[in-house]
Amino acid sequence: MAKSEIIIKNETDIAGMRAAGKLAAQCLNHVANSLRMGISTEELNTIAHQFITAHGAYPAPLNYHGFPKSICTSRNDVICHGIPSLIEVIQDGDIINLDITVRLNGYHGDTSKTYLIGNVNPGTRKLVQVTEECLMESIKQVRDGSRLGDVGAVIQEIAQSNGFTVVRDFCGHGIGLEFHEPPQVLHYGKRGMGVELKAGMIFTIEPMINMGSHRSRVLSDGWTAVTIDGKPSAQFEHTLLVTQHGCEILTIE
Ligand code: MF3
Ligand code: CO
Ligand code: CO
Repeated sequence: MAKSEIIIKNETDIAGMRAAGKLAAQCLNHVANSLRMGISTEELNTIAHQFITAHGAYPAPLNYHGFPKSICTSRNDVICHGIPSLIEVIQDGDIINLDITVRLNGYHGDTSKTYLIGNVNPGTRKLVQVTEECLMESIKQVRDGSRLGDVGAVIQEIAQSNGFTVVRDFCGHGIGLEFHEPPQVLHYGKRGMGVELKAGMIFTIEPMINMGSHRSRVLSDGWTAVTIDGKPSAQFEHTLLVTQHGCEILTIE
């Protein structure tokens, strides 16, 4: 099969993806239970790593194109791909995205949420709430016969009508035996345009929504993507199976 083709998963694949998605969701909730002021992102990484390996899975980010840790921890103005570190300590008023990807029996489950720490200012709270709404409303577009443009358009409309912007430099992705497969899932677009969805496709939607400019830059570590204006960014992600009349969220417990 050409690498550009979108794989339609069979029942064996779907069973494997359900198990991987469930484990990713369990891991995310497990790590989130340890979130508190004063904990370092390195400690969160260790908690995730131990949970994933104890359940017979592998943390897919670790060594992925050289990524050095087991999860991504993206705080405040970090858009995505934040690298856990002992010197990064969670503070009152932070927002932090935890992005977990597990590989279980060869299959990947990928999910993230942004958490509020202590007394977060109202504008930033609103950003996080709207970003989750962008994900959950766009998921309602997913069914056999709809298009990826329908997904992107809903995200763009909700973000922009609230005065926020959509990151364009990173997107969602097909997922299965590979961490990142076709198609690319853009978080902006036009209704009726783009790839037509078919039952059996599995992909992520993972909108990154910014308070200020949509533009990003990558730090000298080669990974950490930040907003160019230092304003906050939020993200939520689920792995989804397209079905005849809707979709199944695979990354729930
Ligand atoms: N989990 C991220 C995603 O949603 C990808 C992380 S790649 C890494 O696609 F190398 F940074 F881990
Ligand atoms: Co993803
Ligand atoms: Co992810």
